[in-house]
Amino acid sequence: MSKIENKTENGSTESAGECTAGDIQDDKGLGLGVIFFIVAFVVCFLSGTLLFPKLLYSKKEQPFNFDHALHVEEAGDCDSCHSLREDGSYAGIPKLATCLDCHSEDPLGETEDEAVFVEEYVSKEKEVPWYIYSRQPDCVFFSHAAHLKGEKPTDCITCHGPIGESTSLKPYEENRITGYSRDIWGKNIFGIKKHSWDRMKMDDCAECHKKETGHQGYCFQCHK
Ligand code: HEC
Ligand code: HEC
Ligand code: HEC
Ligand code: HEC
Ligand code: HEC
Repeated sequence: MSKIENKTENGSTESAGECTAGDIQDDKGLGLGVIFFIVAFVVCFLSGTLLFPKLLYSKKEQPFNFDHALHVEEAGDCDSCHSLREDGSYAGIPKLATCLDCHSEDPLGETEDEAVFVEEYVSKEKEVPWYIYSRQPDCVFFSHAAHLKGEKPTDCITCHGPIGESTSLKPYEENRITGYSRDIWGKNIFGIKKHSWDRMKMDDCAECHKKETGHQGYCFQCHK
């Protein structure tokens, strides 16, 4: 734990020191040692649960806001922007070309977000560098086709939550140590999960696989 805390920027080394206080040799008797240990434990616990997550993740704003609700209404469905290609790979986030079907160098509306989009990306013919909330580490293999086809396709919300209905984007939070998106380990430090999309760790993938197929699968199914 102290190793991890030393990496954070904001001087939480104090609590890291206290975490090892249980080891000290106490010549005033066991009682004081036990009290000291409990205090140290509480301090350590609180800094770990309340303070640590704030330091552990760095927040990054998306390039500009994207209003899904508005665009789903304009485009008609999700598929016109997110779809499976002929070869079974997933197109992911649409490229600028898809946006240009409707947007040109003259903004359609008058919002600040559209002004940024048009000036910084449309006019300069530059792709928008979106952060991907659900991005898994490189060692993981994930296939949308395996989940969207078949007898019982899983809907987007089960894994992603209601992003497709939202009007504004949350900041992207990156774990400073692992580089993982916060959506992988989830917000809740105790690991409590209220929705299927609160977290997408290895156990969460495996849990659904076990439920759906009766077995957890082999390492090489999900690892390259
Ligand atoms: C007009 C194009 C467009 C349409 C239509 C659209 N999306 Fe998106 N979608 C985007 C863009 C652009 C992003 C990247 C910005 C963002 O994260 O919102 C995105 C991102 C996402 C993401 C986030 C992936 C991640 O992990 O970061 C999800 C999930 C998603 N869309 C689901 C949906 C669903 C479900 C629908 C239909 C209800 C839908 N989208 C319709 C353009 C579209
Ligand atoms: C089907 C047509 C269509 C497509 C495709 C489309 N848009 Fe839009 N977009 C619109 C319309 C219509 C508006 C509303 C204009 C207004 O503000 O009155 C809009 C508004 C916006 C706004 C401003 C909205 C706000 O809340 O501030 C942004 C930013 C934007 N679009 C980005 C994108 C991006 C990025 C893509 C490509 C991923 C895209 N749009 C694709 C039709 C489209
Ligand atoms: C079984 C869970 C699951 C389902 C169902 C699912 N996704 Fe995903 N999606 C993921 C995971 C995991 C990733 C990250 C993949 C990676 O990093 O390799 C992802 C990535 C994405 C991305 C970003 C891809 C990129 O790299 O640009 C978009 C956009 C997206 N999903 C949209 C959707 C939409 C729309 C649906 C419904 C039609 C959907 N997903 C259904 C789990 C799922
Ligand atoms: C909501 C349930 C659910 C979740 C969550 C889920 N999966 Fe799946 N996955 C399935 C189902 C159902 C299949 C199809 C099984 C089959 O065809 O036998 C599947 C198939 C796959 C396959 C193809 C396996 C093969 O050999 O054909 C891969 C790879 C995979 N999942 C990876 C993942 C990863 C990685 C995650 C987590 C990021 C994940 N899945 C999360 C339900 C889920
Ligand atoms: C159902 C899909 C799935 C299966 C099966 C699976 N993994 Fe994973 N594994 C993941 C995902 C998703 C992650 C990334 C999220 C996380 O760290 O939990 C991961 C992460 C890991 C990591 C951490 C790598 C890192 O860079 O953080 C190791 C090590 C690992 N898996 C080993 C295994 C081994 C060994 C097996 C077989 C016993 C296995 N996995 C089976 C999906 C799977």
